[in-house]
Amino acid sequence: VENENLEIVRSALKLCPNFPKKGITFIDIFGIFANAKAHRALIDIILNRLSNRNKTIDVVVGLEARGFVFGPQIALSLQVPFVPVRKRGKLPGKVAQIDYELEYGKDTMEIQLNTLQPKQRVLLVDDLLATGGTLGAAQKLCANLGCEVVETLVIIELIGFNGRAKLNNVEHFTTLFQF
Ligand code: PRP
Repeated sequence: VENENLEIVRSALKLCPNFPKKGITFIDIFGIFANAKAHRALIDIILNRLSNRNKTIDVVVGLEARGFVFGPQIALSLQVPFVPVRKRGKLPGKVAQIDYELEYGKDTMEIQLNTLQPKQRVLLVDDLLATGGTLGAAQKLCANLGCEVVETLVIIELIGFNGRAKLNNVEHFTTLFQF
């Protein structure tokens, strides 16, 4: 079933050559969510992984933007809160920040204070792992608030960027590898 589900998810991905720039092939994950069968298959793969690990997760933290698409339903299935990490200036109230490196330049991500409690065990979700700059920074941000990221999870990992090297001592789950 797992292999069948993986194939269903893979075939729902839309590859978009020369987007957003010439020479780059963009992977559009919304093809998965446009297809209820693929959507179901993706969520089943992820929930299956999480139930096999049998780890306590206290909170799901999702990264803007596409970690918001499927993070909340993972949180709902685990019956834990969902908390967003957003780019600078989008979240009201007091926030904790961290700077991170992008392919060109820098950005800042933020999380609202009091959404995470010290010692909570966090599952971090995003759609894609490339250089690992984004997920690695989010891991640090959670650690700065006294939490432990026990698992990171993405739909797609681009092999060749060695993004895992930026993840510090955490179990990581990728649904589909893209070469
Ligand atoms: C993309 C993707 C990840 C990140 C991965 O987001 O959704 O968050 O890049 O790249 P990395 O591993 O090299 O850090 P993007 O920065 O394009 O922002 P968006 O999700 O708001 O569109």
